[in-house]
Amino acid sequence: MRSLLFVPADSEKKLAKGLASGADALIVDLEDSVSLASKEAARRMAAEFIASVKGGPKDGPALYVRVNDLASGMTDDDLAAVVRAGPDGIMLPKSGSGADVARLDVRLRVHEAEAGLEDGVTRIIPIVTETPAAVLTAASYAGTSARLAGLTWGAEDLSAEIGAGATRDEDGRYTDVFRFARLSTILAACAAEVVPIDTVFPNFRDEAAFLRDTREGERDGFTGRMAIHPAQVPLINDVFTPTAEATAEARAVVDAFAAAGNPGVVAIDGKMYDRPHLKRAERLLARAKAARST
Ligand code: COA
Ligand code: MG
Repeated sequence: MRSLLFVPADSEKKLAKGLASGADALIVDLEDSVSLASKEAARRMAAEFIASVKGGPKDGPALYVRVNDLASGMTDDDLAAVVRAGPDGIMLPKSGSGADVARLDVRLRVHEAEAGLEDGVTRIIPIVTETPAAVLTAASYAGTSARLAGLTWGAEDLSAEIGAGATRDEDGRYTDVFRFARLSTILAACAAEVVPIDTVFPNFRDEAAFLRDTREGERDGFTGRMAIHPAQVPLINDVFTPTAEATAEARAVVDAFAAAGNPGVVAIDGKMYDRPHLKRAERLLARAKAARST
């Protein structure tokens, strides 16, 4: 998944626009973008939307639902409304640690069983940096649940929690706390053997800054990014689709190792390539393949 577009669940218009946006996944939101008064209507609309998309052609975006966090008292009602419609996964905000993913895993088992769904079909993507304690335990996700599909992060809730005046400096770079949260997400996702997904960029009219920020994320190891506006989707897809040149280079590395009988090290055009280069090339080819199949 390169692009994951947030769509408030209580907006029929945006749900329809999201479907046509070209996003690899939609995150139907029941949390921050939906007012308390609209939660019940939003649950119903989310379930109807998912059921209608899942009943249609199979080539649409993956569908995730962002539920309300486990301390909100609303998570069970969210899950009871949407799991039976068969979403691809649940996004868990304000996840405190791997233990929260394990708790959600157990609840999903119950809801899946009640709906007659196969055990484990609903995946989980937690947002792992929305509280200070969560950032400090980001390493706890490895091995928590076979449902884990990726980790993502958020800066806004964390900044509110710590009382930071801003998340970025005058040059648009994240300040240290947020850089730490961002890189914790990359390391924690890789340690858990799932993909790291970059956070949203709220200033959706500033395309140049968005592109710069997204390219930096790709360079640093993110394999996809969340969007808040349809205009961000094609830009994300483009940045996270490996170029033909990069793909050819990776193919050459993999082929050279294979041709040499899979040794520890090979030379291509006077440059040394060893096992980490092979691993990187294989990962890039896997991403290129996934991008082609969307
Ligand atoms: N998904 C689907 N459609 C969207 C969309 C989204 N996330 N954001 C905007 N659109 C639609 C608008 O409804 C509008 O449709 P129209 O042309 O038929 O009227 C069109 O795209 C252009 O939108 P625009 O006028 O540029 O923006 P806006 O002022 O209507 O909306 C936001 C701005 C921020 C309110 C909107 O982008 C949004 O709701 N984003 C998601 C918020 C969210 O989910 N936040 C939680 C995660 S941080
Ligand atoms: Mg939030």
